[in-house]
This record gives sequence, C-alpha cells and structure tokens, in this order.
Amino acid sequence: MLNPVADTVPTGDIVLNTARLIDGEVEVTWKGKLASSRFAPFWLRDHCHAKHSLHADTLQRQVDTFSIPIDIMPAQIIIADGSRNLHIVWKHDGVRSEFPSAFLWSVAQTEGREVAPRRLLWDRGSMGEQFPSMSHEQIMADDAGLLRWLSLVEEHGFALATGTPPSIEATQALAKRVGYVRETIFGGMWDFTANLAFKDTAYTPVAIGPHTDGTYSIDSPGFQMFHCLKFDGTGGESTLVDGFRVADQIRKSDPIAFEVLSTVKVPAQYLGDGVHLKAEHPIIALDHNGDYLQIAYNNYDRAPFRLPTPRMNAFYKALKLFNQLVNDPAYEITMRLAPGTALLFDNWRTMHGRRAYQGFRWLCGAYLNKEDFDSKLRVLRAGQQKT
Ligand SMILES: [Fe+2]
Repeated sequence: MLNPVADTVPTGDIVLNTARLIDGEVEVTWKGKLASSRFAPFWLRDHCHAKHSLHADTLQRQVDTFSIPIDIMPAQIIIADGSRNLHIVWKHDGVRSEFPSAFLWSVAQTEGREVAPRRLLWDRGSMGEQFPSMSHEQIMADDAGLLRWLSLVEEHGFALATGTPPSIEATQALAKRVGYVRETIFGGMWDFTANLAFKDTAYTPVAIGPHTDGTYSIDSPGFQMFHCLKFDGTGGESTLVDGFRVADQIRKSDPIAFEVLSTVKVPAQYLGDGVHLKAEHPIIALDHNGDYLQIAYNNYDRAPFRLPTPRMNAFYKALKLFNQLVNDPAYEITMRLAPGTALLFDNWRTMHGRRAYQGFRWLCGAYLNKEDFDSKLRVLRAGQQKT
C-alpha cells in the first residue's frame, strides 16, 4: 500500500496567486494549484514570520500571543516580493506581518500535522527474497548514502547493511550515524549470548514468536539494530513480520477485531532486575488520520487487566486473530543474521522473532529513539533540497 506524501512537496517554487478577506478569514490561492485555503486572522498574527514576531535564528515565537485582540482584522492584504510573501497590515495597531507563500501552502496541506510517510507494506509474497539492503561503505560515506538507507527503512520497516565490520564498535558507529544509542535496562550498546543475563527470553536459545520490544515502555524504542557477531550452530534464523500489513489485513477482513485492537489499551510490564516498568498501548495505534502509527505486541509481557466480560471476550477473539496472522508464514520473512550484515528495523512497525537454535550465537545491537530517526531523516531531506 502506498500512502500519499503531502509533506514532501517541493515548496521552493510555490507562489501566491490571490489573497482576500472573505467572511472574516483570509482566503489564499497559489499559482498552478487548484486548492484554496482560508486562514483565521488571529492564527495569522500568531504565526507571523516577520523578525519582530519570529526569531530569525532560533525560529522561536516572539509574538505575544496573549496580547493579540481576539477580534483582530486586517487593514491591508498585500501580495509582495514576487508573489513569494503575503503581507498583512493589522487594523488595530498598524503592524505589518509577513508570511512566506510556501509556509502557508505547507500548512494548508497538512494542517501542520505529521503525515504518515511513504510506506510499502509487505508480506512474504510481495517481499520475495530480495531484502532492502545497502553496503556499510555507502551508508557511512556521505549523507546521500545514509538518506537512501534510512528511506529504505522508512518504506519497508527494515533494511540491511552489508559489509559491516563484525565488531561492537563498528555496529555502534553505524547506530550513532542514525541517532543516539538509547540507554535502557539492558544498557546502551548491548551484546548477548544465551546466558540469561537478564530475565528475558531473548537471553535463552528457545524460539521467540513475532513481537515488538518495549511494550512496557511509555515510549517504546522506535528502532532496533541487530548484528550477529558470531554464530556457530544450527537454527536461530531471524523472522520479521510487517505489523502494518497484518493490521491492514484485519482492517479489511474483520472491522470489529480492528476496532478492538486499535482502541483497547493493553498494559505490559517488565518486572525484575531491580525495575518495574509498566505502560499501556493499543496493539494497533493509529494517528489522527487513521494511518498506522505503532504496533505494540508482546504476549509474553502483557500485564493483567480486565474489561467487562463481553468486551474482554471480544479482545481475546481479536488477539487470537492477530496472533494467528503474525504467526502465519504468509506474512513472515526469515533471514540468517550473519557476521557482517547488520539489520535496522522499525520497532513500531516490524515485529521480530527468532527460531530456536543450538550452538553459540553472539548478537549485539542497540535501541534508537523514534524521534531521533525522524529528526535525522528530516535534516537529511532538507539538506538534499538545498543542493
Ligand atoms: Fe525482541
């Protein structure tokens, strides 16, 4: 499924066509665009881009929002600077406000909200055997390489980095290229073998079904990096499932189950190792547009909670369907993580699991915050627009 990308429209060549006061609002049109948009005068004064109202360096608001008259009205509306700016002179104090055409266009498209990125939902059939991948060398070489890799992760929910030196240090350097390594109860950069260092099934050789990490965390880790530094044994293949693809399937085939999964907040907890973490998430979280925001699913870590029996039964029914689909081989891809191939995946979308194994397996990795990944992508994309 392809989502529209409203926030990546190049804004450099957006110019104004008309601007006029109508029914107490300022209606704006842009050259070559069919859409018009109306802006409230109070909102416009609050978002003035002139130096007296928006700090030129920090881009922080300087206008005193609370001194703006609630019935503020324009005295003059002027298209200026080659149609690249809208000027408004205010009736009550004669102050002149400025608004870049591209700014108004951008707000008109998204209402200032984040728009779900371009995503290619996949299952086993559509993904095939060719996984999104780039060389470590390209990713580390320059911003263009990093942007391409992170865009792959954004589109598919995961991507591989081949030719990564099989060491904790090199894996950490790759993670830091993306964002801060997150400190959690497992440390920052972690590495483990099946030694049960923590009270978690990850630290055993048994099979682990598809799940997301940190359902017990209010801000679940946004991304996770895995790098197998050594493997000498059998089994242990990693499994990935596109949680948004599964959610999409349920949305189409069972709207009642989808309603339950997207509204019932499920508590989860981590109890042990001197901590008691607890948080609640719906299994399928949606954003303000109804687009997929986050999958939070780990049946091992679900904490006790109760609903009225009919609703509780509906929850168990929906949970069973979700679990059935995420364990259906039709939605799952498998890969053997080998020394040299690092995996970065979206822990808010892509569920991961592991087959049982015998032998020695040494894995390292890191958690990264979603906000840092998103920030890096915005900065890289803004840099690309300038060049
Ligand atoms: Fe995990």
